Amino acid sequence: MDWIALRGRDKYYRLAKRLGVPSRAYFKLAQLNNKYGFLVRGSKVVDLGSSPGGWLSYELERVGQMGRVVAVDVDNIRVTSHGNLVFIQKDIFDLDPQELLGALGGRADVLLSDLAPRFTGIRSVDIARHYDLASRALGLSSQTLDSRGWFVIKLYMSPDVKEFVGMLRRRFENVKLEKPSSSRPSSSEVYAVCHKVRD
Ligand SMILES: C[S@@+](CC[C@H](N)C(=O)[O-])C[C@H]1O[C@@H](n2cnc3c(N)ncnc32)[C@H](O)[C@@H]1O
Repeated sequence: MDWIALRGRDKYYRLAKRLGVPSRAYFKLAQLNNKYGFLVRGSKVVDLGSSPGGWLSYELERVGQMGRVVAVDVDNIRVTSHGNLVFIQKDIFDLDPQELLGALGGRADVLLSDLAPRFTGIRSVDIARHYDLASRALGLSSQTLDSRGWFVIKLYMSPDVKEFVGMLRRRFENVKLEKPSSSRPSSSEVYAVCHKVRD
């Protein structure tokens, strides 16, 4: 990592500490939402891969008391309990979409996935595991997302990602790839912001 990337990481890391949010990921979602405005007061949100809770903190701020967030992760979250938050500690491959719909009280306006596998350092293995998680998130979106809803997912640049983005374009009317400035330049992560399910 070069010194510019290091300095960038320190800035958002320090800011997260200062604001008392669980991770610097908070700022990535904030930057995406500032551009697209998918999280609003009253939104019904599903957050896949929610631990420790950077995104979750931001979502709860945005949706307010009228909204609802259903968060899922195998690991625990570091976010204080809110009346409008349901946390399901579970592997997403064991998750029944009906459980999400029941906890949400209807279809989701926004489905977010920041899922990432535990990295082994073996690129082909890590990419394959992430692809499985991303495919599962996309599958869950087809069963739980409102047709006018938003699907936002973290992807890692790889030859397979092109194929995955192709699937997103077939599923959604609008698909944009974004790299927020709070994401380390040295990271291959990008975010696909997708809107409106095709008929
Ligand atoms: C990059 S972290 C998420 C960071 C989080 N969004 C935040 O803002 O603090 C990725 C998360 O995906 C979760 N994860 C990975 N595989 C999973 C699975 N099969 N089921 C549920 N969660 C999983 C990990 O436990 C990890 O917490």
